[in-house]
Amino acid sequence: TIVPVILSGGSGTRLWPMSRPEMPKQMLALTAEQTMLQLTAQRARGERYSAPIVVANAQHADLIEQQLADSDSAPSALVLEPAGRNTAPAIALAALAAGGGSAALLIMPSDHVIADVAAFHDAIAKALPKVEAGWLVTFGIAPDAPETGYGWIQVGDEIDTGVHRVARFVEKPPLDKAEEMLAAGDHVWNGGIFLFRADTYLSALATYAPGMLTAAQDAMDKARRDGVRIYPDAAAFGASPSDSIDYAVMERADKVAVVPVAMGWSDVGSWDALHAISDTDSAGNAHRQTGTGEVLAIDTQNCLARSDGVRIAMVGVSDLIVVASGNDVLVLPRGRSQEVKKLIEAMKNS
Ligand code: GDD
Ligand code: MG
Repeated sequence: TIVPVILSGGSGTRLWPMSRPEMPKQMLALTAEQTMLQLTAQRARGERYSAPIVVANAQHADLIEQQLADSDSAPSALVLEPAGRNTAPAIALAALAAGGGSAALLIMPSDHVIADVAAFHDAIAKALPKVEAGWLVTFGIAPDAPETGYGWIQVGDEIDTGVHRVARFVEKPPLDKAEEMLAAGDHVWNGGIFLFRADTYLSALATYAPGMLTAAQDAMDKARRDGVRIYPDAAAFGASPSDSIDYAVMERADKVAVVPVAMGWSDVGSWDALHAISDTDSAGNAHRQTGTGEVLAIDTQNCLARSDGVRIAMVGVSDLIVVASGNDVLVLPRGRSQEVKKLIEAMKNS
């Protein structure tokens, strides 16, 4: 069986005002009736999978437990970080919670969309033999833009059906490099989903980030347990270096493979990205109300309007994003939603 590991530590700031520190992106129902976290858990369910291990910030424990219970995906372990140290240490905690042995771990971000789940499962099946043989496997997405926020993988020789050696892994390249790799045509994006044995990952850490491994082991040895909840020791975990799996392990390790897969993947990184993957009406609008937030739109084109409370009313506008949540309203033209980051910075400083 495969052990799903769900990472739920991110804050999704570019989806402000709906995504907030106390209610981050993965806990929101952005693309469906279910939240991104619930959709993630449901994606890896069935006879091949055990109950998930979820690694999250302790602050969100109740919310996560509730959402998973509501979607019939109760975790076997809920590992609650006192403070995030990024994904490499978070995955180390999960690998240790899984017993550290030969169990295959399917590492999934909690905040992605996969439209074609059958294609996802097919890619996992292709990867398994190499996973058993001690490879670190990632899933590759055909790139369509010079994205600097993703990892890029140069696809090497095919080593098993549909499975390729990773010739090179470049995390978050500068724009000129991303443009080169896009033009070269032999690169894919790292989807941020990984499959490997727990022991494979822990030995990679021992080689490339030993300080992380010892901190995670120490934190788990001294952890407090309460039902499925595991609270790693704060001082021990706090001593871990902070880094992502991409920089700490994937860029450096040897036996790294990629399974390119077309599965309707999106990391829903911005309001524009959400508009792009949403069902739209005949005028290109992706309006949606969540809860009581009504959207009244007359003669609007290619807009996205969403509210979780107040009513939004708009007439005669095009290419606008309007999002109302609590006391906040965000208005911006489509195409500029990356700049929400700037707003967050400005609010911090005001
Ligand atoms: N538990 C826990 N603790 N989870 C975390 C932490 C942490 O400290 N930090 C991040 N996460 C979770 C996030 O919630 C998200 O689900 C996932 O781990 C990935 O983290 P991101 O912070 O979103 O990574 P990224 O988007 O910058 O980059 C990664 O994903 C890209 C694809 O979306 C990399 O793997 C890239 O190579 C990849 O292209
Ligand atoms: Mg991300």
